[in-house]
Amino acid sequence: MSPRRRRYLTTPIYYASGEPHLGHAYTTILADVLARFDRQDGAEVLFLTGTDEHGQKIQEEAARRGVEPIELCDLMAERFAEAWRTLHISYDRFIRTTEPGHEAVVRTFLQRLWDRGQVYEDTYSGWYCVHEERYWTEKDLGPGNACPDCGRPTSHVEEKNYFFRMSAYQEALVRHIEDNPEWIVPEIRRNEVLGFLQKPLTDLSISRPKSRLRWGVTLPFDEEHVAYVWVDALINYLTASGAIRPERSADEQGFDDVSGSSWPADLHIIGKDILTTHAVYWPTLLMGVGLPLQRQILAHGWWVVGEAKMSKSLGNVVDPLALREEFGTDAVRWYLMREMPTGGDASYTPERFLARYDELANVLGNLASRSIAMIDKYRAGVVPDAADGGLDPAIASALGTAREAMARYRVHDALGAAMDLARAANGFVEERQPWSQARDADPEPLDETLATLGRVLVVLCALFQPVAPAKMADLAERLGLEGVPTLDDALSVPVAGRSVRKGAPLFPKARPAGARGTKEA
Ligand code: MSP
Repeated sequence: MSPRRRRYLTTPIYYASGEPHLGHAYTTILADVLARFDRQDGAEVLFLTGTDEHGQKIQEEAARRGVEPIELCDLMAERFAEAWRTLHISYDRFIRTTEPGHEAVVRTFLQRLWDRGQVYEDTYSGWYCVHEERYWTEKDLGPGNACPDCGRPTSHVEEKNYFFRMSAYQEALVRHIEDNPEWIVPEIRRNEVLGFLQKPLTDLSISRPKSRLRWGVTLPFDEEHVAYVWVDALINYLTASGAIRPERSADEQGFDDVSGSSWPADLHIIGKDILTTHAVYWPTLLMGVGLPLQRQILAHGWWVVGEAKMSKSLGNVVDPLALREEFGTDAVRWYLMREMPTGGDASYTPERFLARYDELANVLGNLASRSIAMIDKYRAGVVPDAADGGLDPAIASALGTAREAMARYRVHDALGAAMDLARAANGFVEERQPWSQARDADPEPLDETLATLGRVLVVLCALFQPVAPAKMADLAERLGLEGVPTLDDALSVPVAGRSVRKGAPLFPKARPAGARGTKEA
């Protein structure tokens, strides 16, 4: 047997300064759907997420709460892990940048940069936004010295910093992006980075003096400075890959040999707001130490209210995550994935949420209920053995479209194709009228109808599994399967002869407001 295809996927690591919110959840659910799809498609997946725990933002928030930074990080790391459990996130590794193992990798990485002459000392003078954890030049700032990204006031700093010779890699980076058109997707984000790289690239400040910031990884070549939090954070992707082993002696760091590790990452999944750090800082740092670059970056859009990024700070906004209590986690995952074209922006409205939920209930849920009920009623609950009644072409085409769309990360299209198949199967029921076929003397036509419905449900189970893992596990069980099949097996897994089981609707019909309130998983 050939070895299984390996895929290493990452989310950003989230700031441990605040609670998880919709923005974090969207990035993470998107990554989870991609990871689950890859596993369904036979790959061996390493899916990484975690928390970003150093820097001024965390230090200041801890001080505001009157706790030690590590206490705040412990609390928030648990909150994120808990949120991901509730949202059915199947991560393989949750990394925290305060793990000693990670801190050692950061120091090894920086030492390597230093040894290769990639770092020099200089005075930095400019403006800093703590919320975004980044420097700005005076001409970037808005009125009142506001941060151009988040609008919060920035502060002026002048201090000794260590700088990475990022500018030296500008040409190499532009060439890499031009030679690899799929390296940054979607294309609009690739063009944005190429546009940014038309201006001369500056060098990157990679340290902060301890006199200003204590909460960070001490530089290996200067005890009085800590690493800039973004550098520390980006290196998490390497730490989790196992490529760098700090315990090795300095002359055999294993930097040039990543075999046996998961590096390079196949895909960094990020929001468009953190594109520069991932598509400029990170690859040039990797060039600086002589490591291969990540294979691909997928930058998604934002959930917005008007023009603004939707977040907890916008008080009067309904948080779609709260709908989980009423409609279940899988329905929220479905809405977020189906409604936002990967890469674009979208805004939440209750009407759109209900319209999308109705598809689950009235198309997929209804198909499952009526098919299982008819197999129960007409064939004593056992799927008959019969030829295809005419849905095979629709099944093949849905599988093909979904695979092709997922290969281009068009999750909304893949899910659309899956829902179209369910719709076609409902049409098939109307056309075949199994309730009339049941009165025929010849059992064959009805056998064919029911066998076809059994087969289409197995395929739908596989296609919907990445977005609705709990509900599809339930459906697989009702269909008498041992589990949700892989995409390859979905067509060949024997369905005939299985005993199906009736149950409560997979997606209960949405009740009018006022009659709501029942919780479900
Ligand atoms: N700590 C850094 C990332 C370091 S990665 C080496 C960070 N953390 S964050 O907590 O701010 O989370 C950023 C992620 O949340 C991004 O992927 C961002 O796009 C996402 N979102 C935050 N608000 C969002 C929306 N309203 N909509 C969609 N995603 C947005 O940045």
